[in-house]
Amino acid sequence: MMNKILIGLVLSLSASTYAYAAGDAAAGKEKAVACGACHAADGNSEIGNFPKLAGQNAKYLIKQMVEIQSGARSVPEMAGQLDGKNEQDLEDLAAYFSSKKILGGKTAADQLELGQSIYRSGIPAKQVAACTACHGAKGQGLSTAGFPALGGQHAAYTQKQLQSFRTSLRDNDTNGMMRDIAARLSDVEIKAVSSYIQGLY
Ligand code: HEC
Ligand code: HEC
Repeated sequence: MMNKILIGLVLSLSASTYAYAAGDAAAGKEKAVACGACHAADGNSEIGNFPKLAGQNAKYLIKQMVEIQSGARSVPEMAGQLDGKNEQDLEDLAAYFSSKKILGGKTAADQLELGQSIYRSGIPAKQVAACTACHGAKGQGLSTAGFPALGGQHAAYTQKQLQSFRTSLRDNDTNGMMRDIAARLSDVEIKAVSSYIQGLY
């Protein structure tokens, strides 16, 4: 009896995992060879302006790839990289990078206090929402909603994204969710929260 329940549970769990992860990580690894030049083979890029993809949720990765492909998000460095890739290719790539573990960095000591405060509590006086609300206490994101994981990401990359949202150079965020927040952040605040995020994982 107990065994039957357990088997049923295992089967339903694996069925739902399979249904969610339609991509094939092993196939994705083969397709990711060219990406490694900038993002590193395991998605842990070592260059500040090239985002780490390791551990990022598949839903967010697919959305970004589709939008980079269509030009809705402009990434000149990636010109040609996604040409000819179909839906299955993108799902496989996303499955591969999301299966990897992110290697985080450090928070600069002099940025910790302000960065942590913004991340955890937002800036009530400026109506900036806490980042934890959507990106999680540990920066793990919310995979079911496709809210990106941020924890451990390069500070330089995060800083650049927040600046781009602020000026709407990057405007592919649904309902302007991030543009609205970034518009209220100063350079000093962006620097602090980006450094905090780099050491959060
Ligand atoms: C020549 C360098 C380069 C190559 C090769 C490259 N990328 Fe990128 N990629 C970038 C840069 C730079 C960005 C971020 C640009 C920005 O600041 O918005 C980026 C952004 C991304 C993002 C968005 C990440 C995020 O957190 O929003 C995804 C997903 C991505 N790349 C996937 C890929 C895949 C898959 C490949 C291989 C098929 C690839 N890239 C190849 C440079 C590269
Ligand atoms: C209401 C929900 C919400 C809140 C609050 C929020 N974010 Fe976001 N954030 C998002 C969503 C959704 C995206 C993905 C946008 C897209 O689809 O391109 C995002 C994207 C980002 C990105 C780009 C990630 C990447 O890999 O390119 C950064 C950086 C970021 N948020 C930082 C922050 C910071 C810092 C805060 C707090 C000051 C914050 N966010 C608060 C929803 C939120």
